[in-house]
Amino acid sequence: MYFCTEITNTITWIGVNDRKTERFENYLPLPNGVTYNSYFISDEKTCVIDAVEMGSTSTFLDKVVECLAGRKLDYIVVNHVEPDHSSGLKEVIRLFPEIKIVGNIKTLGMLQAFSPDFPVENFVTVKEGDILELGIHKLTFAMVPMVHWPESMITYDLTDKILFSNDIFGSFGTLDGGIFDDQVNFEFYQNEMRRYYSNIVGKYGPQALNALKKLSGLEIRFICPSHGLMWRKDISKVISLYETWAKLEPEIEGVVIVYGSMYGNTAKMAEIIGRKLNCCGIKEIKIYDASKTDLSFIITEIWKYKGLFIGSCAHNNSVYPKIEPLLHKLENYGLKNRYIGIFGSMMWSGGGVRGIQAFADNLKGIEIVGESVEVKGTPKTEDITRLEKVAEEMAAKLISDRI
Ligand code: FEO
Repeated sequence: MYFCTEITNTITWIGVNDRKTERFENYLPLPNGVTYNSYFISDEKTCVIDAVEMGSTSTFLDKVVECLAGRKLDYIVVNHVEPDHSSGLKEVIRLFPEIKIVGNIKTLGMLQAFSPDFPVENFVTVKEGDILELGIHKLTFAMVPMVHWPESMITYDLTDKILFSNDIFGSFGTLDGGIFDDQVNFEFYQNEMRRYYSNIVGKYGPQALNALKKLSGLEIRFICPSHGLMWRKDISKVISLYETWAKLEPEIEGVVIVYGSMYGNTAKMAEIIGRKLNCCGIKEIKIYDASKTDLSFIITEIWKYKGLFIGSCAHNNSVYPKIEPLLHKLENYGLKNRYIGIFGSMMWSGGGVRGIQAFADNLKGIEIVGESVEVKGTPKTEDITRLEKVAEEMAAKLISDRI
């Protein structure tokens, strides 16, 4: 046996840690890796819940074969067709050509779109509330469209009260020894889970809330997502966190200051704002240079804190190229429940501050704090006063929210 990964005496984690892939979906950095979780159910019928990404198939199939111990694999449930879960399916079908592949009607269309030679005759279509009998275990299914794709569904084991939640409750980060919430320091996974949520699912908060509503009546002993930690001790904690993120509510008091700066002037302004915020009693302040830090890390911090300053120098009468994608993402995600401050430098016609202002004016549910501070060249004494004033105003708003 690879190592002890039993969830119960009949259900085993057979996922794979991927420490090789540089970028998830080919754009999100994976400094801490990622897992593709999969689960084996041993019963009168054998069943795997979700496959893994193609590059990890060899290890995954070794585990499947080991769990089968000479039996055949009867079913694989495809909760979600995105290739991090389904691209390994081809190899599963090659090894077990008689396998029944379980999904909903949208699943089938997507599998065929990715693989024109997909064996339709092996497909078993399920809909909301259907039950798949494996023997002692009875699996039922619920549709959770757009968390993360239109065909996304979750599987619930009525016997052991296990929720196979796919992308919901998933996180980046490999499982380095511990696999359950009570076996690790959660702080690391909380950040990686928020980064997964905010960057992958973030646009679909209302749909995520609908999914949580479906779960609210269920007795859940284990949550087994398709990435990262499994949950058995503090299940209400992870559900509550997810609800906070789906509502786009900040977790704690604090401010993200993100800037784009060509010659260091906008960077200086960020430092002045940060120092003043701290002098006003704000302890959690994160300053990021958007030219260096990948946006996915900045976005997860924006999800965490209520305060946000965005700074940009002018570039071709517009926003700096490294800030532009951030604005696009936040607009696309419908950022709300935040205080936003705006600053930046210019030399002749400006454009950086003007562009951020236009972005913020378009957002519903945010509050622009104080004056948008634009400085010609480097900040002078009077500019520093203006920056400090807007920082004071941000701090006052955050502090008044404490009560
Ligand atoms: Fe983990 Fe939407 O795939």
